[in-house]
Amino acid sequence: MTRKKTMAVLLTAGIVLGVNGVYAQGPPAAPNAQSATAFDNKIIKKISADNMYNTIALLSAQPREAGTEGELIGVQYIKSQFEKYGYETELQPFKIYDTVKGPRVGSLVINGESLNPYVFSGSYSAEVTAEVMNVGLALPGTVPDTVKGKIALIERGTNPFVDKVKNVLEKGAVGVILYNNTGTANNVGVADPGQNIPAVTITRAQGLALVEQLKNGPVSAHVKVTGSGYIEKTSYNVIAKMKPNKNKDTGQVVMVGAHHDSVPGGPGANDDASGVSTVLELARVMANMPIDTELRFVTFGSEEKGLLGSYHYASTLSEEEADRIVAHFQMDMVGSKDAGGNNPAGGLIMYTIDGKKNLVTDLGAAAGARTAAAEAIPYGKLGRSDHQPFHELGIPAALFIHSPLEPWYHTPADTIDKIDKNKLQETAEIVGASVYQIARPDTPALKNARVAPVLIDYDFENRSPGA
Ligand code: BES
Ligand code: ZN
Repeated sequence: MTRKKTMAVLLTAGIVLGVNGVYAQGPPAAPNAQSATAFDNKIIKKISADNMYNTIALLSAQPREAGTEGELIGVQYIKSQFEKYGYETELQPFKIYDTVKGPRVGSLVINGESLNPYVFSGSYSAEVTAEVMNVGLALPGTVPDTVKGKIALIERGTNPFVDKVKNVLEKGAVGVILYNNTGTANNVGVADPGQNIPAVTITRAQGLALVEQLKNGPVSAHVKVTGSGYIEKTSYNVIAKMKPNKNKDTGQVVMVGAHHDSVPGGPGANDDASGVSTVLELARVMANMPIDTELRFVTFGSEEKGLLGSYHYASTLSEEEADRIVAHFQMDMVGSKDAGGNNPAGGLIMYTIDGKKNLVTDLGAAAGARTAAAEAIPYGKLGRSDHQPFHELGIPAALFIHSPLEPWYHTPADTIDKIDKNKLQETAEIVGASVYQIARPDTPALKNARVAPVLIDYDFENRSPGA
């Protein structure tokens, strides 16, 4: 913020008073520096780094691993803040699956003989005793209704394992014995979450012997699986919307996002309570601004489990709705005092999935030059966060992050004492000014989300975040 003040003087004065009272040209401003517009000031003057810092302190009081009580506490706080600011707010739940942490053990007993089966990866843990029924390859439409209540004997081949399990499960089978279609091994087979019957694999020789036995009359089997399968949990996205005035509505939507979940056992102050704090602060300062574009602030769950929340959110958008979204600004790790190295703008960079500029980076680079950072922000190429699903929908998207990363990344030491208010402030100003440039009523609607106006020179950087 000190840097900003210096710059503001240079920019507004342009010339400064020399020692001998003669007007002289001041030192040159940073090449790209420009002054904040009156419009920018409507946003950036209201941003409070203290607010953001307090949000991070609150959220990082406990880990927020997706599907745990910690996530829920965070989610409820975020929702209550959005509501307080007057947003139409929604908790969007979705199912996630944790794998049971073994040891994965299976047994199969037929006619008193103990076989040593392989357990399907992901097989449900359960124990059943039932009659065995040969259902061949278990292809769609070929499984008889009479498999109900029985253990299905299935030959490997033609279709994926999970499809075979699905086909017998639909007919009421209570277990699966798969036999290989080649060789002497048995170590194959995969089950999906929700396929709640035990599934084991035997060798081809064992399978063919069983097929023969079944020709002579009923055969009963005992199948038991332990230490395997999935535990179903619920994770959430928090969605806050602000619709523009009805008689001045471009029909377009601009999105600002972060993820609220942390890694297990990590307080996730920078990753990504920092991004959430920025989302909440921008929601607060924009709450009563005149707009002609819908504002949508979202915090995603289960980012750390594989971008599950943002993919879920993206999957709920109709094509028409996805087309109305003209930009997605993702903030993930925007407050660490130990990140960014010696790079300009505290190391802030805008990563896109394809390494190309887009509307978001154009606006962000220009806003960087006009606000606290007083520098055009570079762009680079990286995924690893929730901008990915939006990019895949054809929506201009970028990840705002300080790169290279801090040493505390994904450790229990990612705590509030490593947070730098100045970094939060700069990022919030840049994203806030960019978003408001789209949403304020005097700027025209964007003709096409895929065509970005070129506003300023800014550079590609091949900067690796490390870790
Ligand atoms: N905040 C990180 C994203 C990140 C990490 C960006 C390093 C740039 C450099 C994010 O929360 C994360 O850890 N993402 C995972 C990938 C995700 C698909 C599980 C990662 O990068 O390992
Ligand atoms: Zn993150």
